[in-house]
Amino acid sequence: MDNIHVHDTSSQQTFAQQVVEEPIYSSQQLADIRTYEADLCAHMEHNPHRLAHSMSVAKTAQHLALVYGVDTFKARVAGILHDWEKVNTTADQLAKARELNIDFGVDLTLVGALVHGPIAQKTLVQRYPKLSADILQAIARHTIADEQMSDLDKVVFIADAIEPLRAPVQALDHLRSQVGQLDLDSLFWETFVEGILYVLSTHRYLYPRTIEIYNTLVIQRATTKEHA
Ligand SMILES: [Fe+2]
Ligand SMILES: [Fe+2]
Repeated sequence: MDNIHVHDTSSQQTFAQQVVEEPIYSSQQLADIRTYEADLCAHMEHNPHRLAHSMSVAKTAQHLALVYGVDTFKARVAGILHDWEKVNTTADQLAKARELNIDFGVDLTLVGALVHGPIAQKTLVQRYPKLSADILQAIARHTIADEQMSDLDKVVFIADAIEPLRAPVQALDHLRSQVGQLDLDSLFWETFVEGILYVLSTHRYLYPRTIEIYNTLVIQRATTKEHA
């Protein structure tokens, strides 16, 4: 879900108002957040929409983390940095993916919209050696998800989809309304399925791993229900 349209509706305003609360951070964490934000502003200077989206994902991820008891600092940082590589052209992203031996199991030109997550996992650790492995994993998985999503992975994935600057389509507004109503697993599941429906409705290539993940999660969810 990577097309960005900036609109405003009352439901988005309500959701946007919810995501502005600031948790209490240590002075070191605050300094780190300010550094990542300043670096992002410089890095995305020529792409204000991507910059606004990234900052909005960061605040939304932080809000989701507060609601669902996930580490808010990690969620905020992963949100700030999640689209770091997306400001490069698709050709440059594909070249970098080849250089870094990132294997999607299909021709990389078919997954041009997905490679920026796994690329960022590898490049950001070089730029910021103190970024933890779980933050980097959440950044990698925001484009393709996984069968074994951590809570942090889920928070960043959902935030990317529902941040308030996204187009006010009914499906996203519904997901926004479910924050705090559904448990985190179910909200991730609904968001993941919505992403697949979007790919189908726009007649785009559906990455085979996505289908695998979908089927595994269907079975996992059925098994969990049986044992509930
Ligand atoms: Fe992205
Ligand atoms: Fe994004």
